[in-house]
Amino acid sequence: MEEIIFNEEELKEVEHHKSKYPDQKSAIMPVLWMAQKKWGWLSKEVMEYVGQLLNLPYSHVYGVATFYTMYFKKPMGKYHVQVCTNVSCMLRKGDEIFKHVSEKLNLKTNEATEDFKFSLEEVECMGACGGAPMILINEEFHENVDINKVDELLNNLK
Ligand code: FES
Repeated sequence: MEEIIFNEEELKEVEHHKSKYPDQKSAIMPVLWMAQKKWGWLSKEVMEYVGQLLNLPYSHVYGVATFYTMYFKKPMGKYHVQVCTNVSCMLRKGDEIFKHVSEKLNLKTNEATEDFKFSLEEVECMGACGGAPMILINEEFHENVDINKVDELLNNLK
C-alpha cells in the first residue's frame, strides 16, 4: 500500500500555506487540494494525515472535505470531466452535452469508469458563462463546445 506522506518539497509547500494565515487551520483547503492532486482522492488515511500536519482532528478535516464537492471522497478517473448544465450553458445545449457524455462513458454524475480513466460530474455554474457551453477536464476549461468538440477532446485523451 502506498505510504501516505508528502515529500520534502511538498512539506515546504504545506509550511508556506500555513505561514499565510494567522491560524494554521486556515491552510486546510490548499493542503487538501495538494493531497487530492497527489493521491487522486481523499481517503480516511489522507484526511488523517492532513489533520496531523495542521494539528486538526479528523472530524474537522472530514467536515471540510465533505462540504466542498471539489474534494473527492472516493476514487475518481484520471480524467475528471465536469459538464456545466446551469442556465447559460443549458440554454446553449449544456444539458444535451451532459447527456451525451453520460451515455458515451456510461456514467452518471459522480461515477468513474471501471478502469478509472474517466469520471463525470454534472456541475453548477463554473463562472465561464461567457464561453457557454463549457466543460472542464481536470483543471482545463473548454468553452463554446458542442458534441463533436467534446467527442474529439475525450477521444484524444490517452
Ligand atoms: S452557466 Fe455554465 S459556466 Fe456559468
